[in-house]
Amino acid sequence: MDIRAKMNAGFRDLEGGLFSKVEKADVGGVADEIVRLGGDMLGWADPFMPDDRMPEEVKRIAIERIESGACSHYTHPVGDMALKEAIARKLQRQNGLAVVPERNILITPGSDSGLLFAMMPFISPGDEVLVPDPSYPSNFLNPKLLGGKAVSVPLDEAADFRLTRGALEAALTPSTKMVLLTNPNNPTATVYSREEMEMLAAFILEHDLVAVVDQAFEDFIYDGREMVTLASLPGMWERTVTVFSVSKGMALSGTRVGYLVAEDHIMDVMYGCAVNVIGTTNSTFQAATAYAFDHPEFMEEYKAIFDARRRRVHDILSGIPGVTVRMPQSGFLIWADVSHLGSAEEVAAYLIEEAKVCINAGTAYGKQGAGHLRIVYGCFADSGRIYAAMERVREALLKLGREKNVRA
Ligand SMILES: Cc1ncc(COP(=O)(O)O)c(C=O)c1O
Repeated sequence: MDIRAKMNAGFRDLEGGLFSKVEKADVGGVADEIVRLGGDMLGWADPFMPDDRMPEEVKRIAIERIESGACSHYTHPVGDMALKEAIARKLQRQNGLAVVPERNILITPGSDSGLLFAMMPFISPGDEVLVPDPSYPSNFLNPKLLGGKAVSVPLDEAADFRLTRGALEAALTPSTKMVLLTNPNNPTATVYSREEMEMLAAFILEHDLVAVVDQAFEDFIYDGREMVTLASLPGMWERTVTVFSVSKGMALSGTRVGYLVAEDHIMDVMYGCAVNVIGTTNSTFQAATAYAFDHPEFMEEYKAIFDARRRRVHDILSGIPGVTVRMPQSGFLIWADVSHLGSAEEVAAYLIEEAKVCINAGTAYGKQGAGHLRIVYGCFADSGRIYAAMERVREALLKLGREKNVRA
């Protein structure tokens, strides 16, 4: 029997599990092997990984809940009220959103599951979702899982990966239902400007679309750039679901806490099926992260660390023949065009061999990711370890350039 034939089309073609060899840095065995051999894993967008940088108070609250036994219980499926109240204060302070915590916030077990949940009420078979390319790999797969289709909207690489009205219009069809945006973008680290966000809002309103915006990387924005939350723009609150995470800015990925923010009618249907879709989120870490939302000062220190690293890593990668990098505008990732040195997979495999580092081949991030690499310079507590790994990457890329006769 072919069990796959019984599956829906969104799942049937998937592979990357028990029966196929997986080479992707974030799922496959390559990463474990690299670490086992003493190399460095720079492919997980997880600050300081594998080192511990948890604020002491957050840790203490979690320990207390374990010791008291409180950890053994559920919270409401839609989330713990104390956490939702702390998040509402943060949304007002940071995102310009005034929300009612009982109604407009849903806690999810991390934002990956939140991203799929955000789309579920809207996407029916045949619906098309506009996805800026390159962007987070889930954005291309999630529409398909729901029976819809992801339609790639090429970002303008020559103009710092900007989103243009022309590219959006070119991808639009009568089946277009949604725009799915990651802002700031992963993997390019671009922060979309107010002008772009206003253009996007006008496009969405004009064509009566819905927006899902993933703001997992909203916390570390450099060089005085403005981080605009699409839902805060006129007319957008009623048609936008915003997805947030504590994994990047707070470096608390292991707590598995994320949250969705939306207006009442959208939340009404999500609350109506929250228990079916997400069950509930870990009660211990809902309590612990609530503290972090009201005491976010520790994130300033993280930001200063990643700001220094981005400059140094940008310097290390600049001037390598065949390699083009731009200064990251956010976060702790750098996106490199290595197309003159080979395909993304070839260069990634070369770096494993020569530099003993595992990074992400760009092809997972959309068609425009061909010939690109994503490097996470946010790993490790010790910046010196990142710089040493990046120097090995530099040496390896210089060597590859010589082998391929690539000139500056
Ligand atoms: C852009 C983006 N969104 C969402 C996620 C998911 O984060 P989490 O499920 O840990 O909240 C990630 C993780 O890498 C990400 O890069």
